[in-house]
Amino acid sequence: MSAEPVETPAEYWRASLAAWAIPPAILDAAPESPWQLRPHQFAARADHVLRRGVTTVSQRRALEALPEGGSVLDVGAGAGAASLPLLTRASRLTAVDGDAGMIHELRARVPSNIELTVVEGRWPDAANEVGPADVVVCNHVAYNVPNLDEFVAALTEKARHRVVMEVTAVHPRANQNFLWPIFHGIERPERPVAGDAVAVVRATGVDPRAEEWAGPELLMASDELRDLVAAVRRYLCLGAERDPEIAGALEGHLVRRNGLVGFAPVPRVTIWWDAAGPA
Ligand SMILES: C[S@@+](CC[C@H](N)C(=O)[O-])C[C@H]1O[C@@H](n2cnc3c(N)ncnc32)[C@H](O)[C@@H]1O
Repeated sequence: MSAEPVETPAEYWRASLAAWAIPPAILDAAPESPWQLRPHQFAARADHVLRRGVTTVSQRRALEALPEGGSVLDVGAGAGAASLPLLTRASRLTAVDGDAGMIHELRARVPSNIELTVVEGRWPDAANEVGPADVVVCNHVAYNVPNLDEFVAALTEKARHRVVMEVTAVHPRANQNFLWPIFHGIERPERPVAGDAVAVVRATGVDPRAEEWAGPELLMASDELRDLVAAVRRYLCLGAERDPEIAGALEGHLVRRNGLVGFAPVPRVTIWWDAAGPA
């Protein structure tokens, strides 16, 4: 009798993420793409991070390994929330992102004294267009990446000193799982979680450390409840006529703070590892 083959961490990650696929019958009826990211939201986040200065575990772990005048590679850079706070120390930034709107927001925020290289493309395919950097950062991208082992190996390859990856402790859409039984009669997955990402990183042959900390920001924060309801409605693949019902279902699940409304902050996990990458 042959034993069941044991799933690798990368296979487990891939299968767990695949379970987040929205059933075709729901997706086909969606008026708008439920996965569309909104660059203006990430721009607001980058501005918020810049105003606060260096406060997060991820920023501290990156700065520890970043020499004065050094270089940073930001993969899945968005509007730059991970790397912009490091530019007081760095002199060069390479930003990789597959979304032109995000890159536009990033360019507008990089100070003119920084040598900026932008690569519009998907990691790890875009890795051959990118040189090595002292520190590689990659915040809030992993839950978008089915082949996380290849993605991580390519990050390690580019790092002279350290890779710092930040993820939410649970899937960033898990806070909306309670809505799916109400509107579609289906349950949503609970995995993967940050510990599963750490296992994938370790299986690539590096020695990651991980630290969980309290997330500071409301998720999907907006200054107008109706914008938040519209974002949730798009994710639920519903039309605008359902907004009053969605607003009703959200009651008691939202937090209001500093003029913003959003989902409660979720814990963040900083995963970092040292790399003896290219000279
Ligand atoms: C949730 S946003 C995070 C942005 C930014 N790092 C931050 O922390 O605000 C994820 C970003 O990663 C980009 N992205 C996702 N998968 C990618 C990939 N395989 N290669 C390059 N960019 C990717 C998306 O276009 C998006 O801008």
